[in-house]
Amino acid sequence: MSNPIRKAVFPVAGLGTRMLPATKALPKEMLPVVDKPVIQYALEEARAAGIEEFIFVTSRGKSLIEDHFDYGFELFETLKAKGKTKELDELLSWLPKAGTVNFTRQQQPLGLGHAVWCARHMVGDEPFAVVLVDDLMTGTPGCLAEMVEAHARTGGNIVAIEEVPQDQVNKYGVLDPGADDGTLVEVKGLVEKPDIDVAPSNLTVVGRYILSGAIFPLLETQERGAGGEIQLTDSMAKLIDREPFHGLRFTGRRFDCGKKLGYLEAIVACGMDRPDVAAGLQDIVRQYV
Ligand code: UTP
Repeated sequence: MSNPIRKAVFPVAGLGTRMLPATKALPKEMLPVVDKPVIQYALEEARAAGIEEFIFVTSRGKSLIEDHFDYGFELFETLKAKGKTKELDELLSWLPKAGTVNFTRQQQPLGLGHAVWCARHMVGDEPFAVVLVDDLMTGTPGCLAEMVEAHARTGGNIVAIEEVPQDQVNKYGVLDPGADDGTLVEVKGLVEKPDIDVAPSNLTVVGRYILSGAIFPLLETQERGAGGEIQLTDSMAKLIDREPFHGLRFTGRRFDCGKKLGYLEAIVACGMDRPDVAAGLQDIVRQYV
């Protein structure tokens, strides 16, 4: 049976102001963690979850992302001529197949909901994944693979969730939880960036979603929400009474590479997972702590 979740949308049109000046000319999705840009971790996670079509919602100044997933003709020929076959094979091994990567543009940064809506014609009317590249996920199976597996049982909509300290709930989309089996939590309500004292729980949505095609007519209304942005959470909340809606506690770890400390932690954590640098990195870190 083919994977019912075939397409993933990667909204990468944000400004990345929290990582300036690094992100003045470089898309934040291209910041390297060890030796791979953050966006490549996301693509590999999606591919491991059975995704066949990768849809990037970009903006001005993000053309390096297109280049990264393109055939690097000059580089590849030069590597070939120099006999650097190991490096060349490594690059070719993860290069997406022709025709599986699509790009569209969000012309103005009007919010995450708007960015996802920009991909509506490429997705069509089928369930699909949304991957926020800033959230670098580690662990096997990957977060999205766990969600695809859960979706095969529940159908409807699934968001990845995590508990955060109560004083941080105002930075996230927050769940009003129903039945909870320890892994899957029924979603009774969703609210974007609530005040700390009225948040319905400390279970927050992180950057992985599986949504039904029914989200697009809801996004179409372009209603502004928290921060004056067109919020994905507001349209998701309207799906709750119509279709199954669950939160999934994933087993891996999340690193928020959209902010400085999360990005630095991702480098240390991913470095410690890499046999070629782990021992040396440990020695270096010890010198500073
Ligand atoms: P963020 O909240 O991290 O916003 O967006 P940002 O603009 O990227 O970064 P800061 O806050 O200025 O540092 C969450 C995700 O939604 C995408 C971003 O690219 C990021 O993956 N996004 C956000 C869009 O694609 N378009 C938007 O209008 C807003």
